[in-house]
Amino acid sequence: MESSVESSQAQLAARMLEALEIDSAEDFFAAKELLELAVAAMPIDGRLPTDAPALAGFRLAQAMLFQLRGARPGLGDDGVLWRGRPSFLTPERFAALEREFATGQARAVHDRWGQHLAKGGPVVEALLHDPELVELVSTHVGPLSPQRQASCIYYDSEGAHIRPHIDTDRFCINANLLVSHEGERRSSLVVYPLAGEPRLIALEPGELVLFHADCVVHARTPLGPEERVWALSLGYQPEGEFHR
Ligand SMILES: [Fe+2]
Repeated sequence: MESSVESSQAQLAARMLEALEIDSAEDFFAAKELLELAVAAMPIDGRLPTDAPALAGFRLAQAMLFQLRGARPGLGDDGVLWRGRPSFLTPERFAALEREFATGQARAVHDRWGQHLAKGGPVVEALLHDPELVELVSTHVGPLSPQRQASCIYYDSEGAHIRPHIDTDRFCINANLLVSHEGERRSSLVVYPLAGEPRLIALEPGELVLFHADCVVHARTPLGPEERVWALSLGYQPEGEFHR
């Protein structure tokens, strides 16, 4: 039953994208921004909408976002490419990263929904360009453009979260590394597969998940009292696609 609903959604999404006649970066990002609005109406607690029309709207937007990048290598229904403890992140390097996060916190600026962002220092910059990490990413998605960007993310207060969204074009492929998670664990990274229930990705500090972040909906659910999460987001772009 679900597979026939899923396939009719996929067909509808394909027809709607065809009608948009996307043949330039301008058209591509106009469509992406429109679809992001449908995703922004999702509940923030990692669940699907209970209201049937809201769910149907979300599923259609999800399918269209997915199909916008449908030609990309390795794009599975939950967008996850790899998860694990990267060998290049030695204990010494991880400790240096934790220290850099701690000192960078004073410079972090409030972004939205209780989330603070800072640029990294030399440890973050070295990770962003680490040949083994770049190799890991390109092994999964093919050659990359020279564009890459790092963001240090601090969730430091009860209720801080990031609602269901897709990433900006700087983070098409997101290597998301959990740096620290303190307090009782209530908050989690969540990915929303095209069908079925959202999946929690409960990383341990030092663990990294690599995923297609600009076309697969994901979120961080709200923190509980006394909870604190620090994460490093490293963004890459496959070559040969529309980018801005
Ligand atoms: Fe994101």
